[in-house]
Parts: sequence; C-alpha cells; structure tokens
Amino acid sequence: MEVVVCKTKEEASKLAASIITKAVKANPKTVLGLATGSTPVLMYDEMARAVREEGVSYREVRSWNLDEYVGLAPTHEQSYRYFMNENLFKKIDIDLANTHVLNGLAEDPAAECAAYEKQIKDAGGIDIQVLGIGSDGHIAFNEPGTSLSSRTSVVYLTPSTVKDNARLFFGGNEAEVPTRALSMGVGTICEAKKIVLLAFGANKADAVKGMVEGGISQFCTASALQMHGDAWVFCDEAAAAKLALKDYYAWRSATKLAL
Ligand code: PGA
Repeated sequence: MEVVVCKTKEEASKLAASIITKAVKANPKTVLGLATGSTPVLMYDEMARAVREEGVSYREVRSWNLDEYVGLAPTHEQSYRYFMNENLFKKIDIDLANTHVLNGLAEDPAAECAAYEKQIKDAGGIDIQVLGIGSDGHIAFNEPGTSLSSRTSVVYLTPSTVKDNARLFFGGNEAEVPTRALSMGVGTICEAKKIVLLAFGANKADAVKGMVEGGISQFCTASALQMHGDAWVFCDEAAAAKLALKDYYAWRSATKLAL
C-alpha cells in the first residue's frame, strides 16, 4: 500500500485525479470504478477541469459505481446515481449509457448484484477503482464484520454510518437514511487492477491507522487493501495524523511519484 500524505485535500485530490487522467489519456477505454460521498468531489472537479482544459476525453470510458441505497430511485436527490450525474457525469463527456450504478429499486436484488458482477467481468475488470473510507474503516458499504472475500450483495449499514451519512447528506435526519444498500464486495473491489483511496479530515484518522498499520481484519474492511499490489492512499495531514510511519510514507511516495 502506497500512502501519499499531502498538506491539503486539494493537493491530494489533484494528485489522485492525475492518476486517472493519465490512465484515460493512455487508454481511452479505461474501465473505472467510482465512489460517492463528500471525499471524491474535489477529485471529480479536477477530472472535469482536465476535460475542459487538457482535452482529456471520457467518451469511451466505462464506469461501475460501488454502491446504491436500497429503496431510492435514480432520480432521488440522495441516490448515488443522482450524485454521480451531478458531481461528475454532467461535467465530463462520458456517455451516460456507459455508466453503471446498482439499481436500488431492483425487484430481485440478488439477481441485480449477480448481473453487476458479470458486467464488470465482461468488461475485462476494473482498471482503476476509486474509494473513500468510512470512519468505521468500511470501503463501499462493507461494514465491520463483512467477509474480506465478499461479493456484490445486499448489505446493512451500521448506526455510525447512518449517522455520518445523515450529517453529510440527509440534513442530519437519521430516520431518512436507508439502512440497506447494494454494494460491491470487498473481494470484488480487491480485483481492480489499481486502487486509489482518498481520506480527508481528522474523523478518518483512526480508520486510516487501522487500514494501513492495523492487522488485516474484517473489522476494518479497508485493511484488505494491504493484500493488493497496487493500492494508493491519498490523505491530508489530518487523516494521516495517527500513522506511526507517516513521514516515511510521505517521503517514499513522493520519491515514487517523481519517477
Ligand atoms: P465520505 O464517505 O466521503 O462522505 O466521508 C466515505 C465513505 O463512507 O466511504
């Protein structure tokens, strides 16, 4: 796991976006795994800037998102499909038909999840998977206690995730946050060829510590990334604050990024 410690989230977002724009320039048919939440928004803005100013094109890019709430229509303002349309897809030249988000209204959720796995496989797998991390160490909606080999399925949100998401996206009203979601599994995520995880702010410091320097455990599903050969973690100073080897990671990653 390569940990990149930046002074600010703006700097971290730019660096992370540069990995994606470089990949899309090199291979216009790049397959992206995308994430929602407050964390990737600045990175998505930077990707959109590169489309406007550097001529990067997403016309042939295909994307699969990590998760979606059960029970929310794609047009619901808190749905992850709506979030992606507003925060990224409308700002770049991607063909909406090439973007995929699990259907939270699927009548047969198990069939929806199995079909999603097949689509990703048929696309040749995900080239770059974008991730945030929950304050409880989750990736996608893989909460503590989820098998590290899990596949896309119906999952159940912990009270702490409901609280975090209510604060950020539901006007603080916990009762409005769905308690179930469809989510890519940890095993699904770890099959991506490259992983780019972003973590900002002091409320992520414990999760980042667990992910990078804790043991590999289903109680911090992000720790599964320790087994991945090409996983990059972009943190601001606050999120990296509890890492014992913070300065070493910062030096090592700066050296590798300069190569
Ligand atoms: P956040 O969520 O970006 O809104 O903090 C991250 C996550 O739960 O994965």
